Amino acid sequence: MVCAVEFRSRDIISIKDFTRQEIDYILETAKAMEPLAKSGSDMLRGKLLATLFFEPSTRTMLSFESAMHRLGGSAIGFSEPGVSSVKKGENLADTVRVVESYADILVLRHPLEGAARLAAEFASVPIINAGSGAEEHPTQALLDLYTMVKEKDAIDGLNVALVGDLRYGRTVHSLSYALSNYKVRLFLISPESLRMRREVLETVKGKMKVVEKTALEEVISELDVLYVTRIQKERFPDPAEYAKVKGVYKIDLNLLKDAKKDLIILHPLPRVDEIAPEVDTTPHARYFQQVWNGIVTRMALLALILEATE
Ligand code: NCD
Repeated sequence: MVCAVEFRSRDIISIKDFTRQEIDYILETAKAMEPLAKSGSDMLRGKLLATLFFEPSTRTMLSFESAMHRLGGSAIGFSEPGVSSVKKGENLADTVRVVESYADILVLRHPLEGAARLAAEFASVPIINAGSGAEEHPTQALLDLYTMVKEKDAIDGLNVALVGDLRYGRTVHSLSYALSNYKVRLFLISPESLRMRREVLETVKGKMKVVEKTALEEVISELDVLYVTRIQKERFPDPAEYAKVKGVYKIDLNLLKDAKKDLIILHPLPRVDEIAPEVDTTPHARYFQQVWNGIVTRMALLALILEATE
């Protein structure tokens, strides 16, 4: 049986480092955080979180800060896209060793893959990976799973489609790994040039049923969860390649006429043009609820890592 003590001082670098039982434990803890998120708590009074964001972010950084404040702790940090020219691991290692003196836990977002793992090697306080290049975004996957459980009661048995940029989108990498712990059918829908990374496919293929397609219309009627992503413009090495796939998927009312009544649509946000605004008021839309779910999921993680729950 999993217990809280396993999470003490633990780093969250990759979702692959967590078993299904551990993930379920985090999701249950997130559920227990719902009333505390509303009432506030002093569970983490005196604890300090530092956010180190070397890439632009609004929601992830605010979400961690909000989670920390709701538990009675405090947050410091920076978000400075201008420093993304930091190309050498050395600088990051120094930053981490300085900032760890200021805080009890660090949340790091960095354009380089492997950055969070490197930081964790140098830091003596726990590190949470809030996005490491195109590689992973494990806390987003946890809040995505939490949303599925909350909306659908269980993850087992779901037909889930990940749509859009499966190559450069880090959220879909973490989410695929996470879902492979459950009995789901996974549809990977993307243009040929943005297919799911081979390393992710190789890891998840043997564990669940995976179907790759380019046309979303072909599978829309089978889906329980439609997870839409932004084409990650900033990660394309060649702007001409981006131009070819820009706007390739558009979720609108016309597409949704064939969908199950209880299909839910998720998106890590920010959205550009991949979900038409007309979808926002349909019973399918859950992407704004996901934002709240992110707060309780991160409250659960902070409480578990900083040893505030039993
Ligand atoms: C995502 C990210 O940063 O990877 N945003 C987020 O954290 N909610 C998705 C994106 O930028 O498209």
